[in-house]
Formats: sequence, structure tokens, C-alpha cells
Amino acid sequence: MSDKTYIVGVESSCDETSCAVVADGREVLSNVVASQIDLHARFGGVVPEIASRAHIEAINTVIDQAMSESGIEPSQVAAVAVTNEPGLIGSLLVGLMAAKTLALVWDVPLIGVNHIYAHANAAALNCDQIEYPAVALICSGGHTALYHCDSPSEMELLGSTIDDAAGEAFDKVASILGLPYPGGPAIDRIAHGANAKAVAFPRSLLKGQPLNFSFSGLKTAVLYHVNGVPGANEKSKTAGRPIGIENFSQQQIADIAASFQAAVVDVLRIKLRRAAEQVGAKTLILGGGVSANSALRAAIAGLADQLNCTLRLPELAYCLDNAAMIAALGYHYYRMGQFAGMDLEARATVRQ
Ligand code: KG4
Ligand code: ZN
Repeated sequence: MSDKTYIVGVESSCDETSCAVVADGREVLSNVVASQIDLHARFGGVVPEIASRAHIEAINTVIDQAMSESGIEPSQVAAVAVTNEPGLIGSLLVGLMAAKTLALVWDVPLIGVNHIYAHANAAALNCDQIEYPAVALICSGGHTALYHCDSPSEMELLGSTIDDAAGEAFDKVASILGLPYPGGPAIDRIAHGANAKAVAFPRSLLKGQPLNFSFSGLKTAVLYHVNGVPGANEKSKTAGRPIGIENFSQQQIADIAASFQAAVVDVLRIKLRRAAEQVGAKTLILGGGVSANSALRAAIAGLADQLNCTLRLPELAYCLDNAAMIAALGYHYYRMGQFAGMDLEARATVRQ
């Protein structure tokens, strides 16, 4: 019998149904993800009611597949870890009910995991332990936040977005540019090799809020660049430019996408630098769907060099929502004996 600690993770906070088996908090034995992207694409965003129904349809198969791919038996499972916050409430409930059932049937502890904290630990999957103190920048479709981390389980919020999340801005700008959903990968793709200096979009640094973010002004700037400023007259900066995305060439659209992406990346890099200096971080961590962005990864690699910090980037599969990161963080709570009761609740918003 192996002396490894096997944790089963369950994730269903948004539009991915996922189950994973992770040994000793790092070694991924299986990580099955059923994505709902195709179901939501025609709406240009996640529709909560459709998401919950799709989770219900997928959850049993996903759990069966994760268990069989892992090669372990239920009798070897030490605990079941599940995302219980934050997320879409109807989606969270599906994973939570499944995890409670597994914990009851297998007679093992249940562990509640915060989805955002788990993103900050995803870079440890299949890799060495993270060196602390660290600063984690978590950017996804629903969240953009900076954390001071002293261990996988000790996270202090330093700043977050006051309006749109970075991923949300990518998705909305992609829609303005006529690109498919989800917008992040589409913008990343067409921005490659395009002129990131073509349009001088604003970098909102929020005076007086050094570690908070704002992306809604940037999104509006792209909208005005494409569709014109409402009420603008002949003398305005936008006069004489084509109006409506159908009047822009493919090259112009790629240049706008690259210019927008550069503005987001600049803001994220500047704020991460401030946080790292404030904390005296040894390590910079990226997590969340936007951490898959190639321009962001390159910019933060450069920042880590300048600051003489180690950069921990999750493998691409663990940037997006997945249950392996839930099981990995669950392992640390398991070691601390931090278990939940069967009354563990799903929460839509983050508890800080
Ligand atoms: O973490 P995630 O899978 O789900 C949430 O918790 O929201 O993040 C999804 C977000 C979407 O907004 C998507 O557009 C964005 O991550 N994203 C990217 C890239 N890949 C995914 N954004 C920029 N560049 C990418 N390559
Ligand atoms: Zn996420």
C-alpha cells in the first residue's frame, strides 16, 4: 500500500465540470474537465441556468472517468475537496452535492476550498513547492486580484478590480471586435505579430488605490475607437475614422486587439510590481484563465528577472478552471485537519 495521500478534487464553480485525483498535493494522477464553452458561445458569456443543468448532466461521468484514470481505488482516497466559493451558486451546488455524497459513501473527510486561493496554488501542480513569501496575481473571467501569500493556505488580499475582471474585459472587447467567445484566446491569437502601439489606449492606474484595478474605461475606449464617440463632432479625435467593426480591415482589427492587450498587460505588470516590492516577494505567481495569455506571461517573466524573483506559471491546463488545483489546495487543509461538515454551504461571493 502506497503511503501517498490521495485527495479527490471537485470543481463546478463556473462553466467547467471537473474532477481530479492528486497525490501529496502536487502529483496529478487524473484531471478530467468537461467544458461548456460551446453551450455558452452563442450567448457571448456564461448563462447560469444553462451552466447548472450542464454540470448536472456531466458530473457523474467526470467523476467516474477521473477515478478510473487515476488508477486508485476509493478505499485509498484520504479526503474529498470541493470548491464551495466563489462562483455561480447553481453551479457550485452541483459539485458540492456530489462531493458531499462521495465523502459520505467513502467515509472520508470533506474539505471546502476557495476557488481563487486554489488558482494561486495551481503553479505547484506537477512541480516543486512554491517559495514564500509570494505575490499571486489571479486573473480570470470573474476575478482580478493580488494576494500576499505566506503559504498555500495563508492568503491576504492586497487589491482587486473595482469594476470588470481582466478576462471579462478580454471577452467584451473580443465581442466588440467581432471575435469569437471566449475572447481571451481569440485576442491572444490575432494580436500575435500585430502592432501593439497602433492605438494609445488608456492605462487606468487608479490614483490613491495603488493595488486595485479598473478595466471598464479601457473597454469603453475600445468601443469608442470602433464605433465612434457618441455626440462627437468634426473636430473630435475620432473624426474621419471608419465607424463600425465591419469597416476595419483584418490588420486594423489585429492592431486594435494587440493595443488593447498591451494596455491590460501594462496595468497588470505595474500593479504586480508594486505588490511584490511592498511584500518583499521571493516568488511571483500567476493564476486564472488570463494567465494563459502569451503577452502577459512574457511581460511577467521580464518583471521577475528585474526583481530577481522566481516566476511560477501554471501549466496551460491548470491556468483554466480545473479540479486538480482544488485537490492540491485541499491537501494542505487536510494536513492541517481543516475539515468541513456536511452543512458546508456554497457561497457566490468571496469571503475575505
Ligand atoms: O479561470 P477561468 O477559466 O474561469 C473563471 O474562473 O473565470 O478564466 C476564463 C477567462 C475568460 O475570460 C477567458 O477569455 C480568459 O480567461 N482567457 C484568456 C486567455 N485564455 C483564457 N485571456 C487572455 N488570453 C488568453 N490566452
Ligand atoms: Zn477560475
